[in-house]
Amino acid sequence: MAVIIDGKAVAAELRDDIRKEVFALREKTGKAPGLAVVLVGENPASQVYVRMKGKGCEEVGIASYQHLLHAETSQEALLSLINKLNAAPDVNGILVQLPLPAHINESAIINAINPRKDVDGFHPVNVGKVVIGDEDCFSPCTPYGCQVLINRHVKDLKGKHLVVVGRSNIVGKPLANMMVQKNKMANCVVTVCHTAAPDIAYYTRQADVLVVAAGRPDTVRGDMVKEGAVVIDVGVNRVADPADPSKTKLVGDVNFDEVSKVASAITPVPGGVGPLTITMLLANTLKAFKLQNGL
Ligand code: GUN
Repeated sequence: MAVIIDGKAVAAELRDDIRKEVFALREKTGKAPGLAVVLVGENPASQVYVRMKGKGCEEVGIASYQHLLHAETSQEALLSLINKLNAAPDVNGILVQLPLPAHINESAIINAINPRKDVDGFHPVNVGKVVIGDEDCFSPCTPYGCQVLINRHVKDLKGKHLVVVGRSNIVGKPLANMMVQKNKMANCVVTVCHTAAPDIAYYTRQADVLVVAAGRPDTVRGDMVKEGAVVIDVGVNRVADPADPSKTKLVGDVNFDEVSKVASAITPVPGGVGPLTITMLLANTLKAFKLQNGL
């Protein structure tokens, strides 16, 4: 039976360290790191994420500035807000919650954020630095959280085969680029597989570390995993609860019951990768504050 990787406990530990550092820097500089979060429209899932980001900031002493804009906000108005936030000295990090309404061009918005304040790590400058392995950048929060959890459970990653299922710009592609780097948090042999693969199991069965970010429940079943693999489930899917069909529940992309009998360690959903994502956002905001203040 696999060890269940407790993302909440790891996140709590990291947040404690972040809080201590934020308070020490506040003593030293008289300033607190600041994060601006921008939400356009009323997407209920996004509203929950934005609230959780505000709470996370409060927990560690980071100032949070929330900009909740109506769904019809024009691209020009959003760009003008981003320009203001780029120039605001008390804003060290800027995050525009995705997805944006259809009339707004997501790339135009991401490209307008000052890369030194892009704590989401989505700006092409940060994406490029992740590919090159230049650590003077922001790693995107979800793959960064996966990397932290993987390193807690695999002591020497050198030469391990890490297989990612999914090629999104938010998880699959950045994680692959991060884990192939020659540094002590990575140094893996990496395979990225996706929906065009005729047989995903051919790849997943080779994984020492398997990360699944496919966006579909049951993408990985028990017979698709090598005995002893470490499995990280990034999926968040709301499905009917088999125990009570009038209710729903959250599941990942991995069939937990089957895979936990084969893997050596596995993240649950919820309580696995999720708590790390916001924690890494807080870590990136602290990093941005230090960079911008020469600390
Ligand atoms: N929507 C889903 N995940 C993310 C994320 O990591 N950052 C932002 N800005 N929006 C998201």
